[in-house]
Amino acid sequence: MSLQDFNIEIVKNPDDSLKRQIAELTQVVFPPPPSYPLSYSGEMVGKLVETYNRIFSDKNKDPILVLAKNQEGKIVGFSFCYRENNLVFGHTLGVLENYRNIGIGSKLVTMVEDYYRDRGYNSFEAYCNDSALSFFEKMGFECSGCDSYYGWKIIKRLK
Ligand SMILES: CC(C)(COP(=O)(O)OP(=O)(O)OC[C@H]1O[C@@H](n2cnc3c(N)ncnc32)[C@H](O)[C@@H]1OP(=O)(O)O)[C@@H](O)C(=O)NCCC(=O)NCCS
Repeated sequence: MSLQDFNIEIVKNPDDSLKRQIAELTQVVFPPPPSYPLSYSGEMVGKLVETYNRIFSDKNKDPILVLAKNQEGKIVGFSFCYRENNLVFGHTLGVLENYRNIGIGSKLVTMVEDYYRDRGYNSFEAYCNDSALSFFEKMGFECSGCDSYYGWKIIKRLK
């Protein structure tokens, strides 16, 4: 399995079923702690779909989903980003466990950077957890702070 086996595409107008699919995949990539009630993931899916509906209906936010699909069309990685004030905000980045470490995560980040750099954005900001910090540092991000709920605040200049 190599990066060439996957199609990576940008989606600007996801339909309701794709929004729901990405919200469900987000729960797979970021599973809640076992102590959380079983209903938690379902509630989070609903909240995420609401967030997608809100952000994708605001064209000022210039939102995109970047999807990595295998040859059968299965989504194995995704990123959701949009404009927040004058910078790009990386809301979510995830690759399914069996497809990690072959370059999909880096390719998703590079596609996001290229998309927004071409539109004149200078900075890309996101929050990440401990385990992903070194991944983002490899991608050229620097740590610019820490939030007790969202984790490390990371930033990269795009120009
Ligand atoms: C972080 C994540 C998106 C990386 O995706 P990926 O497809 O495995 O990343 P890549 O294969 O492009 O890896 C690129 C480089 O980063 C390294 N890397 C990947 N994940 C890493 C991690 N968690 N910690 C340290 N290094 C990591 C790889 O070894 C590779 O290094 P190399 O270029 O020297 O070979 C993926 O592990 C993931 O979905 N994690 C769970 C969700 C998450 O933490 N998302 C981040 C937002 S908080």
